[in-house]
Amino acid sequence: MIRYASFALLVLIGYAYGNVRHTTTTPFPHVDLQGRIDNFHVRMEQIMRQMMMQQLYVEERIRSDGQSGVKQIRQYHDGTRPYYSETHTYKGVCSIHNHANYDRTVGMGEVNMVINGVDFRTRHNDYKLRMPSTNSSMFQAMTDIPFPGVPPEVTAKKTLVEQVAEMREWFRAWNDQDHSTRDYRKYFKPVLCYMEAAWTMDTEHFSEPFSSDRHAIDATSWLDLQEKVRFTSYSGSKNVNENFAYLPTAIMEVVNGTPEFAQWNYRILCHPLKKNIPLKYFHVVDDLSSRLPHGETMREFSESRSGRFSLYDEDGGKTYSLMDDLMSEIPGKDNYQANLTEDVFGELLYDASKTDDTPLNTGYYHRWYKVGKSGSPKEVAHRGFSDRNLWVAQTTQPRVAPMSVDQCTLDPVSQNKTCQSWTRRYTYAVPLEVIYLSPLYSWNPHDLEFWPRGSQAFEIQRVGGKTNDTAYNGTGFKTFYHTPVEFFTGKEVARDPADTTKSGVGMLDKHGKVQLVGASGTRIFLPNIPGVGTLRMRYPIVPVHGEGSGVWKELDALKDMVMDMEKYKGLFENPPNLSGSSNVTDSAEMTLHLRTGVATKNPPGPHVHDVFLSHDVQDTLKSGGHTRIFTGEALGHTHQLLIGYRNTYTIMQCDGSQVCWDGHPSTLYPVD
Ligand SMILES: *[C@@H]1O[C@H](CO)[C@@H](O)[C@H](O)[C@H]1NC(C)=O
Ligand SMILES: *[C@@H]1O[C@H](CO)[C@@H](O)[C@H](O)[C@H]1NC(C)=O
Ligand SMILES: *[C@@H]1O[C@H](CO)[C@@H](O)[C@H](O)[C@H]1NC(C)=O
Ligand SMILES: *[C@@H]1O[C@H](CO)[C@@H](O)[C@H](O)[C@H]1NC(C)=O
Ligand SMILES: *[C@@H]1O[C@H](CO)[C@@H](O)[C@H](O)[C@H]1NC(C)=O
Ligand SMILES: *[C@@H]1O[C@H](CO)[C@@H](O)[C@H](O)[C@H]1NC(C)=O
Ligand SMILES: *[C@@H]1O[C@H](CO)[C@@H](O)[C@H](O)[C@H]1NC(C)=O
Repeated sequence: MIRYASFALLVLIGYAYGNVRHTTTTPFPHVDLQGRIDNFHVRMEQIMRQMMMQQLYVEERIRSDGQSGVKQIRQYHDGTRPYYSETHTYKGVCSIHNHANYDRTVGMGEVNMVINGVDFRTRHNDYKLRMPSTNSSMFQAMTDIPFPGVPPEVTAKKTLVEQVAEMREWFRAWNDQDHSTRDYRKYFKPVLCYMEAAWTMDTEHFSEPFSSDRHAIDATSWLDLQEKVRFTSYSGSKNVNENFAYLPTAIMEVVNGTPEFAQWNYRILCHPLKKNIPLKYFHVVDDLSSRLPHGETMREFSESRSGRFSLYDEDGGKTYSLMDDLMSEIPGKDNYQANLTEDVFGELLYDASKTDDTPLNTGYYHRWYKVGKSGSPKEVAHRGFSDRNLWVAQTTQPRVAPMSVDQCTLDPVSQNKTCQSWTRRYTYAVPLEVIYLSPLYSWNPHDLEFWPRGSQAFEIQRVGGKTNDTAYNGTGFKTFYHTPVEFFTGKEVARDPADTTKSGVGMLDKHGKVQLVGASGTRIFLPNIPGVGTLRMRYPIVPVHGEGSGVWKELDALKDMVMDMEKYKGLFENPPNLSGSSNVTDSAEMTLHLRTGVATKNPPGPHVHDVFLSHDVQDTLKSGGHTRIFTGEALGHTHQLLIGYRNTYTIMQCDGSQVCWDGHPSTLYPVD
């Protein structure tokens, strides 16, 4: 609203300005026209700068309301209680669905997102399995993600029946996470899909943020798009094809009295992860507002499209987490060749995953970093003020809007002022989901022809029927059917109106014979595989904007207590009388507050650091495990600790060494 008002103001000023210029041609000797115009210029620049500050103010308010993440999906349902309508999920997290008849299309509807305080709305996404370019650093250059191969144990089988049976065993091995006889890890490859957003420079020419085989933004220019969104917002109406996106514009700089505009834009890409992710690392998040109206148990919920997950490993409590590791494999807009460091204000940023002083490659996505003067102790910091999911990467792409900052220092002796200026470009990302690619993308036992884009003859009567005349003649990017129907039993799972996958189609093979085949592209759940089950292939892990707010944190704490009263009954003000037990005395100590011993070295002089261990981390440590955690800050530095439990909480490693450089003893003391 403020933004629109600001634009209207700018237009008015421009109009007035034109009139003033016009009057300069009329001689009025008694009026100081030049003076008035100069004055007007100054005022206009002040107003433009004020508009920039308004933008910051709006962003700051959104930032303090929550974190980067999804906010809302489009409403289709309602009822007597608010939770009968959509939140970030309803029948599918982020309105995800299937287009498995496309070779690399991943079904995902419209979403309202917040990324680094910018609130925007996407078109119907339906993104493709593509990654940043591996060999080019060109702006927006992308590479198709290679599909995993087919185990030779499958293709070596003589008959289709045997191939199907062997392939099922590979899916069983993956589902059981048992790689002892069949090492599924070579053929089931997780990719991490993420939304990347940035302020871009080209505000005049409209550019499709990322192409889809099914959707494209229906507008000729950014202004046209905003006008259309403005109308749909004004009238409350919807673009039937879901091809409008609300992507804001802002003033980034005012240079010599001229505003430089920037256009917010986003895209969705995926990154093939370097390591396998065990399925047990996905922990379902209890989104009660979706589970209650559908009457689902936790198990049913986790096996539905609405289920959302939190991704962490056995040591979920460590500060630099598995998500940090995974996101650090993803480059910003310099693509995989990105190799950048950051030293704004003369302070180099270091890699928080390392205990030594390795400069951080800021061209890749990160949120934790270490900072401090060269040779002196470092402090660990997190991007943003309180945004748990602010992932940022630096870039050198000229198309990303830059921002500059100056710093002047006064030499205390000579009283000389020296000024330095830095100009930087940053982009942001939010993880959306992990998709496991399977051998089904490549397995083609009927040896069906694949026609590359544009080469397939279009024949209107060929609709995938079971006769010679109506069967598809070969597969293509949107008739991506080559899995023998014998592989699955039963229909596609939990169909959604947005799905486009047919359960089984007729396809002519190279000999003109009709073969019955199923879709081979990306699905949330595969149809039932006899003897194995219905397997989930897509794991949504998108953070939710509201989760960053204090209210949501309070709500999650309350949910955890109510959902497991037995465990947390010690925390109730008036403990519930559960199953007649009277065990209310020993309340679970949720977060343990520990403190290091006093440092012995001087400098830096005596000081201590605080460490907080959550309930689950305490359990891990007491059962013999370790965790990596950052201490609180003291005297301008933090420590990276490896903590274990030996009758008492003990520092096993400090900043990569046996003992802390400033001499904290190894024992940690509980603080009452
Ligand atoms: C980059 O790799 C793609 C395929 O991976 C290839 O088609 C393209 O020619 C390569 N470009 C350069 C500049 O090497
Ligand atoms: C990044 O650049 C630095 C020097 O600018 C070089 O020493 C380093 O090897 C580069 N790293 C990679 C991964 O290319
Ligand atoms: C301070 O600035 C003046 C003028 O720029 C220069 O001549 C002088 O050498 C400077 N002094 C120091 C200590 O840098
Ligand atoms: C299927 O396509 C191939 C290649 O275009 C063509 O040679 C063949 O005649 C087609 N078959 C039918 C039944 O149309
Ligand atoms: C379909 O094609 C197959 C193989 O060319 C042939 O044997 C069969 O008779 C055909 N059926 C019809 C109904 O044309
Ligand atoms: C708890 O409930 C049981 C069974 O209803 C009852 O016998 C017992 O007295 C109750 N205990 C307390 C402390 O209220
Ligand atoms: C009460 O707590 C003790 C110690 O935590 C435990 O061993 C015991 O099984 C509990 N009793 C009941 C009825 O839960």
